[in-house]
Amino acid sequence: MRVICRKWMIAMACMLTLLSCMSGAQGQSLSGHWAAMGKTLYNGETQKAILDLEQSGNQLTGTVRGLGFAVKIKGTVTGNHFEIFGADSDNKKPFLVGDLINGELHGKQRGRPFIARPATPADEFPKLTYIEPPALHDLPYNGLAKTPPMGWNSWNLFADKVDDKTVRTIADAMVSSGMAGAGYDYVNIDDTWEGLRDAHGILHTNSKFPDMKALVDYVHSKGLKIGIYSSPGPRTCAGYPASYGYEKQDAEMFASWGIDYLKYDWCSASTIYKNDQLRAVYQKMGEALEATGRPIVYSLCEYGLGKVETWGPKVGGNLWRTTDDIRDEWNSMIFNIEKQAPNAPYAGPGHWNDPDMLEIGNGHMTPDEYRAHMSLWALAAAPLLAGNDIRTMSDVTKSILLNKEVIAVDQDPLGKQALPVRKGNLETWVKPLVDGGVAVGVVNLGSTTATATVKASDLLPGKEVKSARDLWSHKDVVFTDGAYSSEVPSHGMLMLRVSAK
Ligand code: GLA
Repeated sequence: MRVICRKWMIAMACMLTLLSCMSGAQGQSLSGHWAAMGKTLYNGETQKAILDLEQSGNQLTGTVRGLGFAVKIKGTVTGNHFEIFGADSDNKKPFLVGDLINGELHGKQRGRPFIARPATPADEFPKLTYIEPPALHDLPYNGLAKTPPMGWNSWNLFADKVDDKTVRTIADAMVSSGMAGAGYDYVNIDDTWEGLRDAHGILHTNSKFPDMKALVDYVHSKGLKIGIYSSPGPRTCAGYPASYGYEKQDAEMFASWGIDYLKYDWCSASTIYKNDQLRAVYQKMGEALEATGRPIVYSLCEYGLGKVETWGPKVGGNLWRTTDDIRDEWNSMIFNIEKQAPNAPYAGPGHWNDPDMLEIGNGHMTPDEYRAHMSLWALAAAPLLAGNDIRTMSDVTKSILLNKEVIAVDQDPLGKQALPVRKGNLETWVKPLVDGGVAVGVVNLGSTTATATVKASDLLPGKEVKSARDLWSHKDVVFTDGAYSSEVPSHGMLMLRVSAK
């Protein structure tokens, strides 16, 4: 079982903020099973995590398991001190740090305290019945997402704080800020809307969402569309009940509410299925959505596992994640966009590679970095799902998210994804456009200003430049002797639209 998902670790780590459990010291080795109780979820359930650790010398390996998730970990031990990282994560910072004290693990998860005590059999999670996924067959295209989906999603900023009021006021702001007019038409509720499943199998909302149908109607009344979230496993990444065994019933409920978009997050499905079953498992919900007869964009969230790009459209998928979760920092943003480059041939109208949602405006990158973020997503024909607070965004954030010339590159009907070519610290991305021209971006990955030069012969082989426009200064520019040069600040980006004669 291989699971990668940084947000799971965050969810797991949240679980470790309180403690419970048991007895029995484990000597000075960390090897063994450790249990910690976490916070109370919005549906009244309590989170719990079990750490299965194996110490060999000063190296740690193992798994952290929660309500329906398992994350492989690695770590180090120095004396009584330990540091634990996600085994498959690119994050260089440990997510758990602490000490073995009197037979208990006492530590911090990103500043929040946790204690884990030796687990007993009573701590084990209930075993689930295995449900065989369907035999493979190709589903028809649902006709949606002819250009990359645009909208807003609650997770990057609000995480489990999203509620009915937030969604309504964001929908208002989508209209008043001009986001809706610029094409951002989906308002997507991510994880933590879920309550409990009743004896009839109906998954209720939790207290943050008193009436989902009324909320859907409100968002629709603004001329917007609305999305929701679930998982093919028994639990979502944040530990809430998900669609395992209830795919048809949940799809019908989403359709009856008027949902227009489903993000379906692998998460705990990895505790039941192997990566070579991803396609069949995603097909199951694809079929359930198709059977509702409602047009629902199907967003596969599987972090790039299982060669999803080769079968995503066959399960009815309109977009699929190519990476682990984005963080609001330069390295994470660049890592994600570069990681999906090899998938470029698989992008096209109706089916897109998804390097995760935008962090623009969330505060931990500079305006130059956010301009690069927007440019790269547009060049890569990536979905543009804003992840910031639309109600309070600054003029700089607005100028980035609402740059219609850059949006037009993303939404170009040809649907081609640019490929990067790196020379030193400069990386050039060229995206062919439907009008026979190209969009070109040069991102400066270095720490000092550099001169970017783009040559007409590289951009439009065999053709001449008719006109060129800088999409951030909003000015026409001139190619001289077949080339155009410009200074690009560290972590900045030159972005041009060049048309051919
Ligand atoms: C995973 C996904 C995120 C978000 C969270 C919600 O980490 O990759 O985008 O949906 O789950 O728990």
